[in-house]
Amino acid sequence: MELINHLKWRYATKKYNTEKVSEEKVNQILEAINLTASSCGIQPYRVLVISNPEIRAQLGAGSFNGQIVNSSHLLVFAAFNEISITYIEEYIKMAEKQRNLPEGGMDEFSKKLTGYFSANTQEANAIWANKQAYIGLGTALAAAAELKIDTTPMEGFDAQQFDEILGLKAKGLHAVVLLSLGYRDTENDYFANLAKVRLPIEEFSAFVG
Ligand SMILES: Cc1cc2nc3c(=O)[nH]c(=O)nc-3n(C[C@H](O)[C@H](O)[C@H](O)COP(=O)(O)O)c2cc1C
Repeated sequence: MELINHLKWRYATKKYNTEKVSEEKVNQILEAINLTASSCGIQPYRVLVISNPEIRAQLGAGSFNGQIVNSSHLLVFAAFNEISITYIEEYIKMAEKQRNLPEGGMDEFSKKLTGYFSANTQEANAIWANKQAYIGLGTALAAAAELKIDTTPMEGFDAQQFDEILGLKAKGLHAVVLLSLGYRDTENDYFANLAKVRLPIEEFSAFVG
């Protein structure tokens, strides 16, 4: 399986060279994320692409992750602060159209979802949304590796700082996790030449029953 080779090739890059990732490839990664799975299928997060150096300098201030600034592009996975009934209803309307169903054709599913998310606290819904964003992150890692684009997934950043600078609260979002994109600086990244460390597969996974 070619994916295994791509995953062996990738590593969490610490230093990038100055080459930029083409817009076409960034768009392919975004499309892969959009196509990945989410619980209930309602995609409760958004991906923001930041390339402006000044904004990135502000975002990365105080973080140990130089890759926030020194990479080609920065993807910010931003999850919903709450799951509203309006959002679910709008999403279901869109689904009905995309599946050529009559309006109201997915009403039963819509009611199930609105009932479920209204019964939860919005804090619980936001945590659930965060988990969906991480599924997107995993897909982005694999998609970028296939394109031979280097990446760094990052939790080492000030989420509140991101929310403020990017005005995320007003958009009903909060920053969850980052992914920088670019091309490795093989000579200056100590990690570029290290062997990948992973558990023996028998310890990591088991066929049970
Ligand atoms: C959710 C998540 C958050 C991470 N946060 C950081 C980070 O803030 N800075 C960093 O340099 N690496 C970060 N990493 C990279 C991990 O340290 C790295 O994936 C792990 O050590 C395995 O190595 P590999 O990805 O190079 O195979 C993060 C990885 C994940 C999945």
